Amino acid sequence: MLSSHGLAAGTSSRGSGRTPAAAFRYARLCSARTQSRSSRSVAAAVAAERLDAQVCVVLGTQWGDEGKGKLVDILAQQYDIVARAQGGANAGHTIYDDAGNKYALHLVPSGILNRDSTCVIGNGVVLHLPGLFEEIENLKKKGVSVEGRLKISDRAHLLFDLHKEIDGLREAELAGAGKQIGTTKRGIGPAYSSKATRNGLRVCDLHKLDSFADKLRKLSMDGEKRFGPGFQYDVDEDIEKYQELAKKVLPYVTDTVEYLHTAYDTGKRILIEGANATMLDVDFGTYPYVTSSNPSIGGIATGLGLPPTKYDAVVGVVKAYTTRVGAGPYPTEIFGDLAERLREIGHEYGTTTGRPRRIGWMDVVALRYSCKINGLTHLNITKLDVLSELEEIKIGVAYKTPDGRMLRSVPADLETLENVEVVYESIPGWKSDISGVRDWKDMPQAAKDYVQRIEDLIGIHCKWIGVGPGRDALVVKPAKGKC
Ligand code: IMP
Ligand code: MG
Repeated sequence: MLSSHGLAAGTSSRGSGRTPAAAFRYARLCSARTQSRSSRSVAAAVAAERLDAQVCVVLGTQWGDEGKGKLVDILAQQYDIVARAQGGANAGHTIYDDAGNKYALHLVPSGILNRDSTCVIGNGVVLHLPGLFEEIENLKKKGVSVEGRLKISDRAHLLFDLHKEIDGLREAELAGAGKQIGTTKRGIGPAYSSKATRNGLRVCDLHKLDSFADKLRKLSMDGEKRFGPGFQYDVDEDIEKYQELAKKVLPYVTDTVEYLHTAYDTGKRILIEGANATMLDVDFGTYPYVTSSNPSIGGIATGLGLPPTKYDAVVGVVKAYTTRVGAGPYPTEIFGDLAERLREIGHEYGTTTGRPRRIGWMDVVALRYSCKINGLTHLNITKLDVLSELEEIKIGVAYKTPDGRMLRSVPADLETLENVEVVYESIPGWKSDISGVRDWKDMPQAAKDYVQRIEDLIGIHCKWIGVGPGRDALVVKPAKGKC
C-alpha cells in the first residue's frame, strides 16, 4: 500500500467575506454553475498532480450517501478506467460537471463524465438492463456518450422486474411485523438471493435466448409459488423485451476480468468506485438492516476479480456528520429541529428514492470499525460546509452499555447496539461560510480543529475536504505537521 502523498492543494484561495447565515445558505444552495468559474483550476490542479496509486479504491465508510461520486469524478481525470464492483441501482451518485449540470447516476460509474475514462461494470453488480439503458439515454441527452466507453461483465447477474416485485412483497410482509428494512425497492436483495440460490441469470445468458427464456420462466415460477396471486409479473412480456435488450447490451459485454488484468499489466490506472457503504455491508453492517452485497473491501475483490494485493490506495469517504436511509439502529441519530435544519442545508433526501434521510453526528466508533475492515489509506471528509451554522458540533467517541461497559467497536447484536449510550466530545462551531475556501490555510481554525480531531481519533490522513457540491469545492489538507 502506498502512503498518503500525491495531490496538490487547489490553486485558488477564494476566502469569502460573507458570514451571515443567509449568505452561506445561499452559497450552498446556488447551482454549481456559479462555482464553475474556478472549477477547472482546482479540478485541474488535482488532476495535474497524480495520486501515486495505479489502483485506487474509493469506499463509503458510513451508511451511504457520503458523496463518493464527487471524489470519483474528480480522480477519474487521472485514471484510465473507472470500475464498479457491487450493488446495483440502489446506489445513487449525484455529481456536477464543470458547466454545473447535475447528473444522478445509479448503475453507470461516475467516471463516465471524464471522456477519457473507460467504465467497467463488474461481475459483482446486479444489473437491471432497462434501468441501465434509461441512464445511458439520459447521459446522451446531456451530450455524454458511452459508446465504446462502457464494458459490462459477462458474469454480472441480471436483475429483473420480478426481483423488484419480490422486494416490494417482502417489505410488505415485514411491515406487518413492524420489521421493514426500508429497502430502495430496486430488487437488490432478491437478485443477490437468486445468485446465491444458483437460479439467477447472468449477462452471458443473453447469448442464448432460448435457454434464457427457460431459465427466466423457472425463476418466475419460483416467485409465483412463494407469493401466490400477489406476485404480479408478466414473464412472457419480459422475455419479449429481453430479445431487444440483448441486442442492445451485447456490444458492451466483455470478460472484464481479462480486460482489467490486461489493462493493469500494461500500466493502465484503475479507479474503483464503491457503492453503498460499510455500515450497510451484509457481513459487517447492522444486519438485517443492510444491503445484500459487500460494499467493503472484500466485495471489491470478488466483484471485479482484481485482487487486493494490487490496491495501492483505499480512500474512505466520510461525511462530516452522518445520514442513514431506511430502518435500523443509528446510535448518533439527531432528532427534531436540528436534524431538520441539517437535512435542509445538506439536501439530505435520497438520490434513488427521494426519501428524507435520517441525520446524526459523526460516529467515530463506527468509523474506526470501518477503517479496520477496509484498510483505509486516506480519508475524504465531505460536506463540511453543511455544519457551518452550528454553535457546537458533537463527535460520538465511545459506546457505553446500560451496565456501564465501554465498547471499543460496533457490536454484532442489534439489541446491544440499540441500547448503547453514546459518549460525545463537543467542538465549537466556526459559524462562518466555508463554501468559498479552497486552501487549507484559509479554513477557520475551528473547522481545522474539527477535521484534525477526526484525523487524530482515526489515525488516517483526511486528505480531501469537501466544502460544497461542485467539483471545485474541495480543499486538500496537508499531512499532519505540515499545516
Ligand atoms: P437495498 O440495498 O435496496 O436492499 O436496501 C437495504 C438498505 O440499504 C436500506 O436501508 C437502504 O436504504 C440502504 N441503502 C442501499 N443502498 C444505499 C445507498 O447507496 N445509500 C444509502 N442507503 C442505501
Ligand atoms: Mg447515494
